[in-house]
Amino acid sequence: MKYPKLFEPLAIGSAVFRNRIFASPQGYYNVAKDNLPSLDEIAYYERKARGGFASVTVGDCIVEDSTGTHYPFLIRMEDRSTLPGLAAIADGVSRHGAVASAELSHAGMYARFVKYPDGSVYGADSMKNANAQRDTTQGGNLYGPVYIENGKYGEVLEMPEEMILRIIDKFGAAAAWAKTCGFGMVTVHGGHGWLLSQFMSPTVNTRTDRWGGSFENRMRLPLAVIESIRKNVGRNFPIEYRFSGSEASEVGYDIDYGVKFAEAIDGKVDIIHVSAGDHEDDRSIVVTHPSMFMEDGINVKYAAEIKRRVKTPVATVGALTDPEMMEDIIASSKADIVELGRQSLADPDFPLKARTGREDDINKCMRCNTCFEYTGSIRSLRCAINPEIGFERDAQIPRPISERKRVLVAGGGIAGMQAALTASKRGHEVILCEKTDKLGGILRCEANVPFKKHLHEYLDRQAARIAQTAIDLRLNTEVTPELAKSLKPDVIFAALGAVPYIPPIPGIDGANVIEATELYASPEKAGAKVIVIGGGLVGIELSVYLNSLGKTVTIIEALPNLVTDDAGMHLLAHDEAVRAPGITILRETTVTEITPSGVICKNDNGELTVSADTVVIAVGQTPLRSAAFALYDCAPEVYQIGDSVTPSRIVTATSQAYTIARDI
Ligand SMILES: Cc1cc2nc3c(=O)[nH]c(=O)nc-3n(C[C@H](O)[C@H](O)[C@H](O)COP(=O)(O)O)c2cc1C
Repeated sequence: MKYPKLFEPLAIGSAVFRNRIFASPQGYYNVAKDNLPSLDEIAYYERKARGGFASVTVGDCIVEDSTGTHYPFLIRMEDRSTLPGLAAIADGVSRHGAVASAELSHAGMYARFVKYPDGSVYGADSMKNANAQRDTTQGGNLYGPVYIENGKYGEVLEMPEEMILRIIDKFGAAAAWAKTCGFGMVTVHGGHGWLLSQFMSPTVNTRTDRWGGSFENRMRLPLAVIESIRKNVGRNFPIEYRFSGSEASEVGYDIDYGVKFAEAIDGKVDIIHVSAGDHEDDRSIVVTHPSMFMEDGINVKYAAEIKRRVKTPVATVGALTDPEMMEDIIASSKADIVELGRQSLADPDFPLKARTGREDDINKCMRCNTCFEYTGSIRSLRCAINPEIGFERDAQIPRPISERKRVLVAGGGIAGMQAALTASKRGHEVILCEKTDKLGGILRCEANVPFKKHLHEYLDRQAARIAQTAIDLRLNTEVTPELAKSLKPDVIFAALGAVPYIPPIPGIDGANVIEATELYASPEKAGAKVIVIGGGLVGIELSVYLNSLGKTVTIIEALPNLVTDDAGMHLLAHDEAVRAPGITILRETTVTEITPSGVICKNDNGELTVSADTVVIAVGQTPLRSAAFALYDCAPEVYQIGDSVTPSRIVTATSQAYTIARDI
């Protein structure tokens, strides 16, 4: 056994955890009507259990819908019609040998989507498709520990004592309901800025009654909630308490306070789950969900500090992808349990693979936050490197091939590699041609960028998987129509990619001008002062990289907004990263000429000159469509995929390649 500590079982009360790897709470918003668990949701959680996790937690089950919900699509624990759906999740998880847990949550002053007396729904306007009509008795008010005139979502009223007492009961009732539905544990959400953390927070909770002010008073609600749950579920039923070991921001509490809190709940709960950050603070949400710009295991330090001070088993979470690191965390007593969020999407089979010596085949999460973005935009999950996420039910359907086809894949980038692997796995004969001497495509240029480490590993892993199959790999081979026809394929995947777009700006041919992908590969070609033309993903990430190498960067973007100005976790991380000293941003500014000493540009203030040693072009890609079109009559079935259709994201390329190859 390579990871003996990681796979040591743990018995707590009535629950047996088969290893130390838990799937951390991850809400699922593709719910059925009236927020009942959907079949997709059941399959989503069950999939994690099938992959070997010891515990799988359903995220954000709301204990009191009328006052406590922060999103209109969360499971309502008061609703008895959730029984069959919740039972199916609990069964789905436990029949695969994992412990099913329900995360019990109340959003407090960050609740939204409550209904006003006139029937309108607070917050609904900000949502696409918000079918958020609720039967609430609370008149749409927001309640928190103290009165706040201008809270993040409007006025917050001080929560009256009778409401506090009622919510304590609701936590207990929700836990009892989870147990009735077949769950083997509950996870109290006491972190990330929600109600319980609002009450424990020294900065937020300045109440002067018995629920606030002193530490003892601030502890009253969390402790009463634990007691209420314990009364409802009994001694043997495990209670996990999730909270932020540190809020990791200028205004939040630090680890010393986190330790104090952990000591106060030590022995009263069964697992102390140490997360970090404050979900409602844009700058610390990227600590809760560590961005790709942060190191792996960045939040383990908080759990380690708490572990030294308590007897209760401690769980750690955040940016964990490597089984060796996890083994070390447990072996060196930094924590007893590791919890994986995004990694459980990148590879739900993580535990099984680590246990059976297949760690090289683990898809490691790149922390691109595609998952997060899709929960917000379409209420479903997607993963850039796992095309089955969001389609778990569909992925379970076996698709035997009716005839073995000869498949030619033209292009060995993200899409081409995925198409070749999927087609080959299903038993087709596959020839994969790549015109360069390496698989991986355009993103190989980022090989040396520290925060793209996991992307690079992903490309290597796909290439290694290809090497292990019967795929006939032909490097340095460009697929011309003649070659394609001569190979007589039944199917062609035209995965030819894209090339950088070079705008017709005077001076673009100057010796000081370089294109982004070339500079990524050879950053030494840049001088100390750099101008990056284009504030899209490529321009921003390249600027962050160059800045980390000590260069001063000016990003010039023609549009009013950088791509960072959109919502989205990864973009918040960008936003944080581009605040670094040494990065300047000029918006709504158009470059009119590149000169040997920089650029001339114009904006509403008129013309301006920006000096630099190097000017980088990062204004997008041109798809290689005509090269793809030329292959359209070279086989009975032809599929154009990936960037050669339209330059897009990794998730689009992987999803398209996998799905079409799965169906041929
Ligand atoms: C898509 C998504 C949904 C999440 N939903 C919840 C949730 O409902 N409740 C919660 O406490 N944390 C939630 N989290 C946070 C994770 O449980 C975890 O703490 C965080 O992602 C950091 O771990 P990771 O780096 O392994 O992803 C969510 C995270 C993601 C990416």
